[in-house]
Amino acid sequence: MNYRHAFHAGNFADVIKHIVLVRILTYLQEKPAAFRVIDTHAGAGIYDLAGEEAGRGGEWLTGIARLMQARLSDTAGPLVAPYLDIVRAFNPQRGLTAYPGSPLIARALLRPQDRLVACELEPIARKHLVGALRRDTQARVVDLDGWVALPAFVPPKERRGLVLIDPPFERKDEFDRLASGFAEAFAKWPTGSYLLWYPAKTWRAVLRLQPAAGRTNAFAWNSAWRRRRRMARSRRRDF
Ligand SMILES: C[S@@+](CC[C@H](N)C(=O)[O-])C[C@H]1O[C@@H](n2cnc3c(N)ncnc32)[C@H](O)[C@@H]1O
Repeated sequence: MNYRHAFHAGNFADVIKHIVLVRILTYLQEKPAAFRVIDTHAGAGIYDLAGEEAGRGGEWLTGIARLMQARLSDTAGPLVAPYLDIVRAFNPQRGLTAYPGSPLIARALLRPQDRLVACELEPIARKHLVGALRRDTQARVVDLDGWVALPAFVPPKERRGLVLIDPPFERKDEFDRLASGFAEAFAKWPTGSYLLWYPAKTWRAVLRLQPAAGRTNAFAWNSAWRRRRRMARSRRRDF
């Protein structure tokens, strides 16, 4: 495993993913019934933006740093505010030196009745995550392959919840694992919500996910894919 999320923490893709994550969890908070968060590829939990890895590509500068300085519209501002509040809580001195990953963002939105389970295979990242969630009775970090944990952890005892699947896509089979893992989990826990994060670099790869998404109400997936197809068609017309 070569992937190190610290290089990419807080970049524009991380920001979009985490805004969506926060939107889903704040929606789940609207009902008092408990929810469960299952983070299959959790990462280290907290990233040092002043550190060597984050500093090398400086990806966070065009992601979270830019967003924090932006003047948001009256529509976007309230939607993004809960996410920005969480990032600010990790930077109490007003600057921006720390960036929370998905398990710590999810943890920030758990109420006493909610639970989080986070899988991380890479030992150093897992050690950091265990440290960040030490003595936390609502969050559990497991040394398990996220693809194995996914079907094993659903359905949890809670009826509602969220599965975040955010693999590094280092291996060619990860699109297939995403499609089959999602389909299997959804069949076992249809009342759960699913956030699948994947690069839409090639059409072929995206199309492989369609059968799994098509069996569900994956509206977000479908609309993103359709938008991409429309853009590609209009680009073809331009030439
Ligand atoms: C894209 S990063 C996760 C970022 C995190 N979800 C976030 O939003 O902050 C992917 C993580 O998955 C871990 N990983 C890779 N293969 C895994 C597997 N099979 N099971 C669990 N974790 C894995 C990597 O070590 C890496 O930390």
